[in-house]
Amino acid sequence: AFLATGAAALGGAAALGGRELFTGDGGADGRDRPDRGDIGRATVDFHGERQAGVATPAQAFATFVAFDLLDGVDREALIRWMRVWTDDIERLTRGAPALTDTEPELALLPARLTVTVGFGPGFLAAAGREELRPSWLAPLPEFPIDRLREEFSGGDLVAQVCADDEVTVAHAVRVLTKQARSFARPRWVQRGFRNTPGAVPEGATMRNLMGQLDGTRNLRPGPDDRLIWISDGPEWLRGGTGMVVRRIAMNLDTWDELDRPARELVIGRRLDNGAPLTGRHEHDEPDLEAVDERGLSVIPMFAHIRRARSDNPDERFLRRSYNYDDPPEPGELSNSGLVFVTFQADIEAQFTPIQRRLAELDSLNDWTTPIGSAVFAVPRGCRPGEYLGQPLLE
Ligand code: HEM
Repeated sequence: AFLATGAAALGGAAALGGRELFTGDGGADGRDRPDRGDIGRATVDFHGERQAGVATPAQAFATFVAFDLLDGVDREALIRWMRVWTDDIERLTRGAPALTDTEPELALLPARLTVTVGFGPGFLAAAGREELRPSWLAPLPEFPIDRLREEFSGGDLVAQVCADDEVTVAHAVRVLTKQARSFARPRWVQRGFRNTPGAVPEGATMRNLMGQLDGTRNLRPGPDDRLIWISDGPEWLRGGTGMVVRRIAMNLDTWDELDRPARELVIGRRLDNGAPLTGRHEHDEPDLEAVDERGLSVIPMFAHIRRARSDNPDERFLRRSYNYDDPPEPGELSNSGLVFVTFQADIEAQFTPIQRRLAELDSLNDWTTPIGSAVFAVPRGCRPGEYLGQPLLE
């Protein structure tokens, strides 16, 4: 019976190399399941002037792996590493096994896999290229709200691995981590998720674990490219971007003590459809001047959305965050939050002023705590035949 089942799963309808991997009939309850096999087969181009995974509509799952370089890794070694990874990523993102793939079956469902690689300050130092380091490629200033932990902070290199299938993400992370072992060791790993494709309408704003629609007012790839992508300075960064990864814990247990109106005042938006407290629909423009019959601001002075915007239209960034929901510490009930990720051309000019404003005053700070922080420079994308970071390393 085991063999027969195995054959049905692997042989019959489900096989490798372009044939069907899954039958999708799902047995008796198959009638209730729409065929979503196309989600597994969808791909995002690896090659291009810009790395994928930034402007790409966020996939359902992400793993962020930051690496520490091993002692003695120099520019030549970094070139070898980046050549190997470029080949691996190019193959995996089109649904092909990596050259040395030990589980090639796991590579066959790309599920919009993207791998976005960013370099930390230590990478440039090891490459002997410190003179090409933008001033924002450094740890963020300390903010009074921060309770940073080493195990979620810093790193010489990051790989942001995203796909609409978690098995795909795990496999890509495994391949890349193995291939990196002569050069680096994982420093921290952060895993996150959003809604599953098909479970919510396409393009819907995600919900975070506080229940809010999160990402309503965000930069738009295309019209806002000027603020997302770097267009001047050293050649290796032109077409690249700056990346901030902050791990922000949510205290869901004290958040539970708030009633709905209070929760909505914290953000300045409604929980049900994300509309500003002065509007009806999610994308209505908030009216920050509006006052109620008692003369109080409808969107409070301490509300997150009021504090998170600046009069300077350049102080904006692309938020591409993921929820995390990890096992609670002993004695605790929950361990949830956001892997809060932003992309911007200039971290110092665009991100830091807003984070500083929020650290000074933001009602949300009573329920959230930054516990990790890292900054990376995402080099421009690879043209066919190039390797990641080539203009920096060659
Ligand atoms: C807006 C939640 C941390 C910057 C929002 C909104 C929510 C939200 C619900 C309103 C919907 C939207 O426009 O996306 C959270 C949560 C956080 C967090 C739960 C932490 C766990 C941060 C941090 C920053 C930030 C650390 C920046 C340093 C922004 C910005 C907006 C925003 C710029 C848009 C404001 C506007 O222009 O209306 N956030 N946020 N958020 N948040 Fe956060």
